[in-house]
Amino acid sequence: MDQNQRPIQNWDPRRYAENARFVSDLGSAVLELLAPNPGESILDLGCGDGALTEKIAECGARVVGVDSSPDQIKATLARGIEAHVLNGHALNLDEMFDAVFSNAALHWMKEPARVIEGVANALKPCGRFVAEMGGAGNVSKVISGIADVLAARGITNGPKHPWYFPDEKEYGGLLADAGFIVHEIELIPRPTRLPGDVGGWIDTFGEGFFAEVPGADLPVIREEIIERLRPEICDDDGVWWADYVRLRFKAELSAEFLK
Ligand code: BEZ
Repeated sequence: MDQNQRPIQNWDPRRYAENARFVSDLGSAVLELLAPNPGESILDLGCGDGALTEKIAECGARVVGVDSSPDQIKATLARGIEAHVLNGHALNLDEMFDAVFSNAALHWMKEPARVIEGVANALKPCGRFVAEMGGAGNVSKVISGIADVLAARGITNGPKHPWYFPDEKEYGGLLADAGFIVHEIELIPRPTRLPGDVGGWIDTFGEGFFAEVPGADLPVIREEIIERLRPEICDDDGVWWADYVRLRFKAELSAEFLK
């Protein structure tokens, strides 16, 4: 949701599975950093369709997924996992968790201090917050390509982009301000192979750019963006690579920060 609680992106689990299965497939590093233990209670913040939530459950933890998309929550529930529709800016669960986990979701939450405060309130003392999100410079080539094509058509008053991509210093500072001890935080460039051309990525994630574009113009603009980006992110074998940069961190709620 944006600040006026208007959805900036609709989630279609079928389209997501087709174009974005790599999001959970590439989640093994952050899952390893979480290292879920049997019997722990874990909150998956922005659980999407529950693919990684299910992996946490397979480790023997009791996991609860939350996501602002009712369709994604339906997909998570269909895996037999407890899940609730909840905006990450308004975490208000009664339960206290041993850990809060998040993969590829925090960059949709543009008021990070509110999110981190909610996470701290959802954790037991010494609970951990382990996450991966888009970091500074993430998908900058893709964003420039989209912005260039829109600007050439005189569309310059839309959102610059609908995401929040902080660096280590900025997000680490916000975590510390909220009472977390940051054990690890790292920006990791990770060019990511797309399952098709960049059009599928834009369809799945980029709706926020096109609010000002008349529906009839969308197919042509989509093609223009693909051709604008082809020389930059499509290799000689015809494989498309998104210029992802991850921010991955592990933090622990200070015992001194008791509620
Ligand atoms: C990401 O995972 O970095 C990402 C996904 C969708 C839109 C923007 C960034």
